[in-house]
Amino acid sequence: MTKIVIGNWKMNLSVAEATHLAQGVAQFAPEVAPLRVVVAPSHPWLVPVHEAIRFRPPNFSLAAQAVSGSAEGAYTGDVAATQLKGLVAYCLVGHSERRRYHGDQGSVLQQQIQQLLAVGITPVVCFGEQTQSPHKQFSVQITRDLGSDLHGLTAKEIEKCLFAYEPLWAIGTGKAAMPKYIQQVLQHVQAWAKEKYNTRLSLLYGGSVTADNTGELAHIPGLDGLLVGGASLKLRSFHVICGRFSGRV
Ligand code: PGA
Repeated sequence: MTKIVIGNWKMNLSVAEATHLAQGVAQFAPEVAPLRVVVAPSHPWLVPVHEAIRFRPPNFSLAAQAVSGSAEGAYTGDVAATQLKGLVAYCLVGHSERRRYHGDQGSVLQQQIQQLLAVGITPVVCFGEQTQSPHKQFSVQITRDLGSDLHGLTAKEIEKCLFAYEPLWAIGTGKAAMPKYIQQVLQHVQAWAKEKYNTRLSLLYGGSVTADNTGELAHIPGLDGLLVGGASLKLRSFHVICGRFSGRV
């Protein structure tokens, strides 16, 4: 698949900062093509950012950080997939912060994935273990948890998603997982997906990705992309990350 780097801005940036940063990303995107470059602003900034990058390069798009599992109705504070349609090409599902603070888990995740797929938005399903532990144990647990997140979805639906492996202990800690460790998990997840769904998943890594460690992450076999938090908030570091991951800069 075409490689992808997604910047998750989380609950950061004013509208002026968000539009300015998005314009900067749109400017450098052509130079890292065919890498797909994506940024995920907070919900209220999706419209102004979308307007600010109306003439964006074809390899640049927007993502939402969360979506409701319901189609419409009395869900105060939630945003429906139909309301995101036309604004974003991707949407995060099951990010660890959503699981922790909003109880996004279990059948809700499946509903969110189905709502997104129904309107043609690609779900980016996040998964990963809480603590670092010896290989065999943790990778079995990871696919067990992922299997329950995806329970009830068809192989066809799963093929349309991207998956971001984000070990919780690596998110926002400054301690990215080691490339060998990531590679082992990716291999285990692919073997599991092949056996269970007879398919290959598109796999991203996230957790303390920086301009400094992107070079070595870019060499991990089978890694299709990166999900970047803190380092995507600065134009310079996000530019370097995209450049290094694309191998073009
Ligand atoms: P981080 O966040 O890059 O700041 O660790 C990653 C994420 O939460 O997606």
